[in-house]
Amino acid sequence: MQRREFLRNTLLGAGALPLSQQAGLTPSWVAAVPDSRIEVLPAEPLGTISPYIYGHFTEHLGGVIYDGVWVGRNSKVPNIDGIRRALVEQMRKIHAPVVRYPGGCFADSYDWRDGVGPVDKRPRRTNFWANDENPQSPASHKYEPNEFGTNEFAHFCKLIGSQPYLAANVRSLSAEQFYRWVEYCNSPQGSTTLADLRAGAGYPQPFGVRFWGVGNESWGCGGNFTPQEYGEEFRRFTTWAPEYGQELSFIASGPNGDDWDWTRGLFEEIARKGPSQFRRIYGLALHYYSWNLSHGRTQDWNQGKGDALNFAPVDWYELLRQGDEMEPLIQGHWQAMGEVDQEHHVKLVVDEWGPWYKPGSEITPGDILEQMPTLRDAVFSGMTLDTFNRHPEKIAMAACAQLINCLNSLYLAHEEKFVVTPVGHVFGMYAAHQGGQALRAIFSAPRVNYQRDGQPASFWGLQGSASLKGKELFLTVVNPAVNEPRETEIVIRGAKALSATATVLTAPDIHAHNTFDQSQAVVPQARELKEAGSFTFPPASVTGLRIQLR
Ligand code: AHR
Repeated sequence: MQRREFLRNTLLGAGALPLSQQAGLTPSWVAAVPDSRIEVLPAEPLGTISPYIYGHFTEHLGGVIYDGVWVGRNSKVPNIDGIRRALVEQMRKIHAPVVRYPGGCFADSYDWRDGVGPVDKRPRRTNFWANDENPQSPASHKYEPNEFGTNEFAHFCKLIGSQPYLAANVRSLSAEQFYRWVEYCNSPQGSTTLADLRAGAGYPQPFGVRFWGVGNESWGCGGNFTPQEYGEEFRRFTTWAPEYGQELSFIASGPNGDDWDWTRGLFEEIARKGPSQFRRIYGLALHYYSWNLSHGRTQDWNQGKGDALNFAPVDWYELLRQGDEMEPLIQGHWQAMGEVDQEHHVKLVVDEWGPWYKPGSEITPGDILEQMPTLRDAVFSGMTLDTFNRHPEKIAMAACAQLINCLNSLYLAHEEKFVVTPVGHVFGMYAAHQGGQALRAIFSAPRVNYQRDGQPASFWGLQGSASLKGKELFLTVVNPAVNEPRETEIVIRGAKALSATATVLTAPDIHAHNTFDQSQAVVPQARELKEAGSFTFPPASVTGLRIQLR
C-alpha cells in the first residue's frame, strides 16, 4: 500500500514515547497505543551489506542434487539442460548471488575428475553419505552417478546469475589436484589439456571460479586435523595456486559454533609465516546449526534434536534462542581473529547455518536430512539474515544449509512437484538488502515472557535490520512472540518519508508450512500502513518495509 506523507518527518519526534512507558503495561484494549519503537539512524552507516550474505549451499547429499537441482536432460520434469526449471526461475527472482558446492562433508571425499568428461563414461562412486541412507533412498543418493559435476554446476550458476563457490578436497586429494581443478575451471580456451576437455564438453569459456573453499569442517569429516595441521595444509594448497587472470578468493575451514580454540589455533599457525599471510585469505568459514531443543538436558547430537513439525510454543522460543547465538558467535570469532589478524583482512563466511531437526518430516521418504520448514524456520531465517546485516564489516558471505530438499531449504521438490517454503519466501523478501548500506537501528520492545520447564523465561520483543540504497530505506523486522502483536512507532532520524510499502510473512498457526498440495499456507502479503508512522507487527511474523525518503 502506498501512503503519501507516510511517516511524517521523524513521525512523532524523538521523545514521543518515553521508553519508561514501554514495559508491556499497555492494556490490550488500547492496542493502537504503541508499546514498541524502532529508530533508524541514517547518519550512522555500518558498512555495505555484501550480496554474498544471501548465498546458498548444495551438496551431493540425499535429494539435494538428484531430484532437487538435477532432473536430467530427458526428464519429463520441466528443465533447462537437465536443471529443474522451476528452481532456476525462483532463484533468479531472489537474486541468488553465490552457491557453494559440492559439499559439505561430501567435498572431502569427492574427486572432481569423476564429474567431468563424457557423461556415459563417468564412474559411479560410493557417496560420503551412503551409510546414512535408508532402504527408501534411491540408488543415486547412495552411489554417486556423477551425472552432475563441475560443468553442470557452473552452468546452473550461470543460469541463475550466481557466482560458483567450490569446496576443494583436502582430506583425500592432493594440492596438485586442487590446482588441476582450478586449471580445468579457469584456464583459457586452447591453453591447456584441461581447458580443451572443458571446451569439448561444450564450455569453451572459462568458468571463472573466484571462490574456493579449502576443505570443509577440517576439524571433523574434512580430515580430523588439529588447527595447526590444517593451517599447514591451507598454506600448501593456496600458495601459488594458478590464477589465469581470475582473482582467487580462498575460504579457510573455520570453527564449529563456539570452538574458539580452532579460530585462535588456526590464525596463530597462519601468522607463523608473518601477518602478510592473512592477505591471501578471503574468509574463515563458520558453521553453526541450531539443533539442541532439549532445554539443556543433553548435548547428544541425536537425543537433543527436536521435531520440525510437532512443537510447543516453548520449542519455538528454544529454537530462536539457539539461533540468536549467531550474534555472539560472530562477535567472539571476530575478536579472536583480530587478536592475530589485527588489520582484519580476513572476514567471516558463515557458509552453513540453519535449524537441524530429527528425521521424520521429510516430504519425500528416503531423502535423508530433508525436513519441513515451517513459519518457525522463516522467523529463524529472518532473524539470522538480520543478524548478518547488522555486521556488514565482519561478514563477507553466508550460505543457508541447504538450498533444496534438505535442512533449512528454500525449496522442496520431488519429480514434477515443487514448492517454495516459508524460508524461500524470506529470502525473496530480504533480497532488497543486498548491496545496501546497513544503518544502525534501535529496536525497543517489551520482552516476550514464557514458561520454560516451570521457570520464567524471556526473549527479545522485536529485532531487525535496516539498509539504504539511494533514497530507498529497507527495514526488516521480526516479531518472535507467538501471540502478541507489536504496535510500533517508527522513527527515521533526520529524514522525511514520502511513501512506504509493507510485506508481511505470517500465518495463524505457528506450525504452518507449505506442501506440494497446499503451497500457499505461508506466503508474503502486502499490508496496510498507518498514516501516523506506526505499524503493527503481527505475532510470529517477518516484515519488510520499503520506505521512500524525500
Ligand atoms: O549440511 C549437512 C552437513 O553438515 C554438511 O555436509 C557438513 O559440512 C555439516 O556437518
